[in-house]
Formats: sequence, C-alpha cells, structure tokens
Amino acid sequence: MKTLLLKDNDKDIAEAALIIKNGGLVAMPTETVYGLAADALNGKAVEKIFRAKNRPMDNPLIVHISDLEDIERLNLTSEFPQSAQMLAKAFWPGPLTIILGKSNIIPNEVSAGLNTVAIRFPSHPLANRLIRESGTALAAPSANISGSPSPTTAAHCMHDLGGRIDAVLDGGACAVGLESTVISLAVNPPRLLRPGGITLEQLREVLGKVEVDGAVLNKLAEGQVAASPGMKYKHYAPAANVILVKGSAAAFCSYVNSHARGGVAALCCEEDKNSLNVKAFVIGKREDYSAQAHLLFGKLREIDGDKSVSTVYARCPDTEGVGMAVYNRLIRAAGFEVIDLEKL
Ligand code: TXA
Ligand code: MG
Repeated sequence: MKTLLLKDNDKDIAEAALIIKNGGLVAMPTETVYGLAADALNGKAVEKIFRAKNRPMDNPLIVHISDLEDIERLNLTSEFPQSAQMLAKAFWPGPLTIILGKSNIIPNEVSAGLNTVAIRFPSHPLANRLIRESGTALAAPSANISGSPSPTTAAHCMHDLGGRIDAVLDGGACAVGLESTVISLAVNPPRLLRPGGITLEQLREVLGKVEVDGAVLNKLAEGQVAASPGMKYKHYAPAANVILVKGSAAAFCSYVNSHARGGVAALCCEEDKNSLNVKAFVIGKREDYSAQAHLLFGKLREIDGDKSVSTVYARCPDTEGVGMAVYNRLIRAAGFEVIDLEKL
C-alpha cells in the first residue's frame, strides 16, 4: 500500500476525510502526539488499526470528538455525569481523556470488551477539522508501531507506518509531545490512569479527590489486572538499554562519568551536559517539565537510530506537575530499571 503524505489544505483534508468515510486509516496530528484514526463506529475499520500497529487486541482505543455535542449526537456514552461536565468545561478541548460508561453503539474493537469508553476532545485545529469533515467520531491510538515511542512529527508516522496505512496528514510537530492525561470517572473516587499535559494538581482543583492508579509510578505486580490495559506493556523503549538514575544532578553526573565507556550515553538536562564525559541527549532545562515532555519521544527515537549507543543513563525527573508524565514514560522506556544513588 502506498501511504499518501497529505498537507494542511482544503483538498488534502477532504481527501483524508474521504479515506475515513471509506473505512481507511489516516495518521492525524493532535496537540499531544499523532493519532492513527479510523471511523470509531465502524468495527471493521477499527480492526485495521490493530493490524497496522501490531497492537494487542485487548488494549482499548480513545474516541476523539470535535464538539462536546458529539457525545450526545452520536450517543457515545451511557452517562455524562456532572464531574465529566466540570472536567470538560475546565480542560476541553485539550490533552485530557475521560473514561465513562459506554453506550451500545461503541464497537467491541474500540472498547476491547470493557463496559467503558475513553473520550477525548483534542484542541489541534487540523484534528478538529478532520473529525468534523469525517462526520463521525475517530478512534485513534498513537500512530506508532506498538512498543515504540509515540510519534510527534509526520516523519515519525511515516517511519513507523509508511506502507501500512492510507495516509499521513502533516500538521507539524506536536505541542505537548506526550499522550493525553487519562482519568476514569467510571470508578469512585475518580482515578488517574495515565499522567499527561493536564496535571494531577489541576484535576484535583476541579474534582477534589482524585486517586492515582498504582500502575502510574510503579510496575504492576505479576498477575495484577491493569485498570488501563496499555499500562501493562513495555513501552517507548529504544534498542539501547535505558537505565533511570535517581539522585542529585551532581551525583548523576559523577555516576555516569564513572561508568563512561564505548556505547554509554546520557539522557539529561541542559545544565548537566557540560559536566558529562559521554554523549548527551538533552531534553530541556531541569525545572522545565513541559520542555522535557515536548522533547522526550524525539530523543528516544534519536537514541534508537544511533547505533553507537548501547546504554543510556537517564536522570530521574521529579514527579510533580508535568514531571509525573515524563517520569511515567521514562520508567517504561527503562523497563522499570532504576538505580537509586541515595541507596547505594
Ligand atoms: O494523546 C493521546 O491520548 C493520543 C492521541 C492520539 O489522542 N492517543 C493515545 O492513544 O495515546 P493510545 O491508544 O496510545 O493510549 C490510550 C490509553 C491506553 O493506555 C489504553 O489502555 C487506555 O488509554 N484506554 C483506552 N480506553 C480505555 C478504557 N475504556 N478503560 C481504561 N483505559 C483505556
Ligand atoms: Mg500509544
């Protein structure tokens, strides 16, 4: 299959919408990461997403809307409680996904057999236009091959899915760079399943009590059921071995320098690169978690493409604000391998 590279103009957007209407697959930009979109109400189309990505069938998809009214108009959920209205008012359109009871119209392929559905109203204008012109809601996981870092440019999508999908719609680089925050309102109290651009602190400001699912910061115990099935898989991992290092910046640099040899590199902040004797992949300033979020996946892909790198030491971020999302992705890239310098 030849994968078309479509641009941000009327003709190309109409072509992308036609592909969706005909049951095809289009990688589309959103403010978080690129999504691989299909008509969410067409089970056969949605099934193609799983094949193109090599995604396990038990991992449900997010349904994307371009208007709050879509939820009622398309009858997507079984309820829309007041807590959902409050979140929608505060954070939509934007990088927040809300899990709610599903209606019967949601195909099994989307919900992977669960009785809930994940809904997101993205803020990217091109995503909104494609959803609107398709006349439906769009099921869209990140547009990568399962297990690799989510794509934040059209080139990343082409690299992973070129030849496997109908088209990539190019909207430039994604602003946030990490996938949306996922919160479940299908449980009481509400539960954070995946941290992202909307922080735990912001959610608590609106809802009061919000619990953090155990899988956000820790490895699931053997046999434990994941509240969010995507959380159980090893993710974002480049070919090189990533090791997360906990400790002060000075302790991190001296630890890495004492392990410097061929193939060793560091994933670090701007301030640390001159203190390191190994190749440094820089993801922004120490306190600037949004910059780190924006750059992380691109750097992990760069590391993956650099055959001279076999081990990467990454400085462990703090878990406040957007730092929690950066930590959540990094610890998965590291396969939960952490060296705590304070405990050595
Ligand atoms: O920012 C994003 O969320 C991007 C863009 C494209 O919107 N999408 C994305 O989709 O990251 P995906 O499929 O890569 O991640 C969706 C996560 C998975 O961990 C999945 O298990 C979880 O959301 N999820 C989806 N539906 C769910 C449900 N009904 N209950 C619990 N978790 C759900
Ligand atoms: Mg994904």
